[in-house]
Amino acid sequence: GFRVVLARSGKSFDIPEGKTIMSVLLDNGEFVARSCQEGVCGTCETRVLQGIPDHKDHVLSARERTSNKSMMICCSGAKTDELVLDL
Ligand code: FES
Repeated sequence: GFRVVLARSGKSFDIPEGKTIMSVLLDNGEFVARSCQEGVCGTCETRVLQGIPDHKDHVLSARERTSNKSMMICCSGAKTDELVLDL
């Protein structure tokens, strides 16, 4: 698992193994824009302020992937212990 910090509210959440960032945020009453929830539509694209995502989507280009500036929170995880998101 890893930890997600929402930069705007300062709230943080533990994302357990096998759960998505999106599902944890929704379970905790946070609003997140979403549609496909499978990493194909791009609706949930979220800016990453700190940390390195583990990209599992089919939306970002190779260049966007390596820049680590944004991620799809419906399917992607983290390679670092913590991600700070622009949410
Ligand atoms: Fe479609 Fe995340 S909701 S890519």
